[in-house]
Amino acid sequence: MEMRGISKRFPGVLANDRVDFDVRSGEVHALLGENGAGKSTLMKVLYGLYNPDEGEIFLEGKRIQIASPTKAIELGIGMIHQHFMLVPSLTVAENVALGLPSSRGLITDLDRVSKRILELAEIYGLRIDPEAFVWQLSVGQQQRVEIIKALYRGASLLILDEPTAVLTPQEVDELFVIMRQMVKDGHALIFISHKLHEVVEISQRVTVLRDGRKIGTRPTAETTRQDLANWMVGREVGFVPDRGLSTIGEGRLRLENVSSGSDRGTPGLREVNLEVCSREILGVAGVSGNGQRELAEVCTGLRKITGGRILLEGGEVSGLTPGELIDRMLSYIPEERMRDGMIKEFTISENMILREHHKKPFSSAGFLNLGNISRYTDKLVHEYQVKTPSLETPAKSLSGGNIQKVILARELSRKPRVIIAAQPTRGLDIGATEYVRARLIEERRNGTAILLISEDLDEILTLSDRIAVMFEGRIMDILPRALAVPEKLGLLMAGVQP
Ligand SMILES: Nc1ncnc2c1ncn2[C@@H]1O[C@H](COP(=O)(O)OP(=O)(O)OP(=O)(O)O)[C@@H](O)[C@H]1O
Ligand SMILES: [Mg+2]
Repeated sequence: MEMRGISKRFPGVLANDRVDFDVRSGEVHALLGENGAGKSTLMKVLYGLYNPDEGEIFLEGKRIQIASPTKAIELGIGMIHQHFMLVPSLTVAENVALGLPSSRGLITDLDRVSKRILELAEIYGLRIDPEAFVWQLSVGQQQRVEIIKALYRGASLLILDEPTAVLTPQEVDELFVIMRQMVKDGHALIFISHKLHEVVEISQRVTVLRDGRKIGTRPTAETTRQDLANWMVGREVGFVPDRGLSTIGEGRLRLENVSSGSDRGTPGLREVNLEVCSREILGVAGVSGNGQRELAEVCTGLRKITGGRILLEGGEVSGLTPGELIDRMLSYIPEERMRDGMIKEFTISENMILREHHKKPFSSAGFLNLGNISRYTDKLVHEYQVKTPSLETPAKSLSGGNIQKVILARELSRKPRVIIAAQPTRGLDIGATEYVRARLIEERRNGTAILLISEDLDEILTLSDRIAVMFEGRIMDILPRALAVPEKLGLLMAGVQP
């Protein structure tokens, strides 16, 4: 497949500027670039979701028009979006069959679909039960269903837009096994990721976009991670400042014997005890699905506790609503940013002041002070380098990473007493990741208590003063950073008390 001179314009932005890009069968071609560089846009053009303003697309040398995803699928092009499009209340087989023309009755068709799913699963080493309901599946398994769905429809070119952002390290390994098998079978794969070690591991060629323009394409074997980083950002990339020493202050957030339920059969929390102090980052490590999500939800009032109590600065807050906790200066950087982090239809300005719009200086006597609001948001947009044509742009038209920057700017700049940060750098490019980590360290220096939940063990080790390891809803142990060697953490994460 070859794209030539593709341009795509949105109000105020040239998202793709005469981009050339091609992919061959039997290769993984990685697409790299900072947040907002135009990667997803280029891929949406290829998948028929956007109509390009300029440019041509060729498949096996023939010029083609891709007016819709239906047309793309007909041509053998599949796309795995970062936000899955499955119906939770249907089974795997039903989801795969959805939208396919049915020759006979649905029931007989489903048998055939199940059979074919098992065949595909066998070929690509994708473990999946066609009869399972999608709501029962982990994120990694749901992604496999999306891949099967695309393969079932005969995709020979597959676009994977940040597929690893939502996966645990083990799931990433499994995905790479599947990808290698597809490449061996002659499929062409386009792979987007901000994690350079993944790009180096899985791709044969890499193309870098910057500000909508293509910077170049190279064989991956001829580059290093450092090269790629510099190439992408257009300058030398530094590293996160040292955490420095910190004398831990008074307790701010305290959980005493807290238990809770959960969604899908995974354990909730079981008698969790922990305390996050002022001037401290307490990291929570664990394999995803061991209660981390529930921990964030009970701390922010999104989930009811079934036992124990929660204290914020000494006062009990167990039954409070998320709004009441926000008013007590608890900040939350949620894992599900589109669902819990912002209002998609609202503008960037509106999203930036979501927490404080009813207070001074943003409003007085029931009237919004628009001048103060735009000065404040303008400052944050610059500080966090949010790439946007204006402050009045609706949040939904930002790129994935820039949405996260808006949430971070809002939550970190309100001078919180406690921050609950779940996967704060997921989906961010290296420059933005560096910035956010530095900001969390700065918040800690200012005295804030930070609970950092992350699946990225490097991130936990870089930032935390103490590390709590979760397994099956329990805290296995809490270690000072100096004693938290990866081997020991690994055992605890597997539920083994060394
Ligand atoms: N539907 C849309 N309406 C308006 N602007 C858009 C739309 N989609 C993307 N843009 C803009 O186009 C630019 C490129 O966005 P794109 O989503 O392609 O970036 P990206 O490289 O995928 O970034 P990320 O790594 O953050 O996902 C951004 O400035 C974005 O705000
Ligand atoms: Mg994107």
